[in-house]
Amino acid sequence: MLSAAENETLTRTGPDMPMGRMMRRFWLPVCSSHQVAEPDGDPLRTQLLGEYLVVFRDTDGKLGVLDEFCIHRRASLALGRNEEGGLRCLLHGWKFCTDGTITETPNHASSNVRNKVKQPAYPVIEAGGMVWTYIGDAEKQPPFQKYGWFDAPAENYVVLRINTPVNYLQLYEGGTDSAHVGILHMNMMNPGWKDSAFVDGKTDQDGGKGWGVDAGEQDASLRKAESSKAGMYMSSTVFDETPDLGIEDTPYGFQYAALRDGGPGPDGAATWSVRITPVMLPTGRIIPANAFQFYVFEIPMHDELTATYLVFHGPHEQDRQLIIDTMGLADPRFWNDNDCNFTASWDDRLGQNRAHMKGKNWSGFAGIEQEDSVIAMSMMPIVDRTQEYLVPSDEAVIRLRRRLLDSVALNEAGEDPLGLEIEDYSSVAAIPDSVIPQTENWQDLAPGNMGSGRPAKGEAAE
Ligand code: FES
Ligand SMILES: [Fe+2]
Repeated sequence: MLSAAENETLTRTGPDMPMGRMMRRFWLPVCSSHQVAEPDGDPLRTQLLGEYLVVFRDTDGKLGVLDEFCIHRRASLALGRNEEGGLRCLLHGWKFCTDGTITETPNHASSNVRNKVKQPAYPVIEAGGMVWTYIGDAEKQPPFQKYGWFDAPAENYVVLRINTPVNYLQLYEGGTDSAHVGILHMNMMNPGWKDSAFVDGKTDQDGGKGWGVDAGEQDASLRKAESSKAGMYMSSTVFDETPDLGIEDTPYGFQYAALRDGGPGPDGAATWSVRITPVMLPTGRIIPANAFQFYVFEIPMHDELTATYLVFHGPHEQDRQLIIDTMGLADPRFWNDNDCNFTASWDDRLGQNRAHMKGKNWSGFAGIEQEDSVIAMSMMPIVDRTQEYLVPSDEAVIRLRRRLLDSVALNEAGEDPLGLEIEDYSSVAAIPDSVIPQTENWQDLAPGNMGSGRPAKGEAAE
């Protein structure tokens, strides 16, 4: 449970708020490349930390990030004409280059305005299928941070953006909450749930058949497909939703390990099955998955709207449509790849299919991103964390909050926030289920994660 003041500090990201000031110290993604793929294509209207921005690609392919509202009389440049090396405001035709320079002012013949002022513009770097910008103090612009997929062939990774109408923190917390994976995402992680009593030994409410369904009713091919999708992501061990947690602070935030009993090893000695998740403040994490490194960034557009960027980076070509299907994003009632908006609404109970919940579909939703987004929306736009009742399995969520508050405090004290000095994240990796003797340190599985090393048994507290 947090105080109301702590909750405000953690969730408010405007320019005059401590979290907003801390996040403005970093380069952040402002859109995915495919949203502004075409030279002279449609300008993109978007938001970042409450700022209204327009992103466009000029005739030469150069990207610009400008304040949305024209410096003349504030018309939206998102409606402008993108042609011949610049973005032209529709109202009086002022024309802007990617760096905000004004090249034409048709309603003002003198060059004095052109020479004197500029449209506010921000530095841009396109990397890894994403467009990154820095909207903080120009004097303090940090080095651009490199991630592991930036040098990969473009066909080996897929970037998806999902704009969900909730505060970034409840999505970010979902990513550090290992215990929900085997429950909320039951359909994918344990498609056999229909045959068995509910997890962790609770009473089977249907006299032994589990949730009102005969095993004989199962559609074997569907279950096989679900199992193979799950295999892309995680092994069935995540079905144990009460792992020991190992957590340690790192220079960029923290990493945590879910430690589950791996059974006896070849020599009969006890083992851990280990999954490691690094959490790179202020917005990133890497989810352990079998088929790829699965990066997630939760970027506040404003305090009640978050752009989630999912990056799937594997050693081979990735199938964008398969990933969209698997994440539950193929249904246009929920999302589309053009405006990227997650459009579930309480008008129809966020799209939940209650009829399917009796024996067919555990959550009534399809796919893990659909499930994560609707659950975050169900908490209201900003969670009231003064009303929670936390338990030990929430420890990584608690650590996330603490590290974010640590980072804000550093920044407010005039120091650099956590992770700002790290220029290369290529060595930081998530580790999907890996079995090690219980006598070994889980940190040794991820030597590039900048951990300090801890005893092997899950000692969560520092
Ligand atoms: S408002 Fe843009 S040119 Fe006048
Ligand atoms: Fe989830």
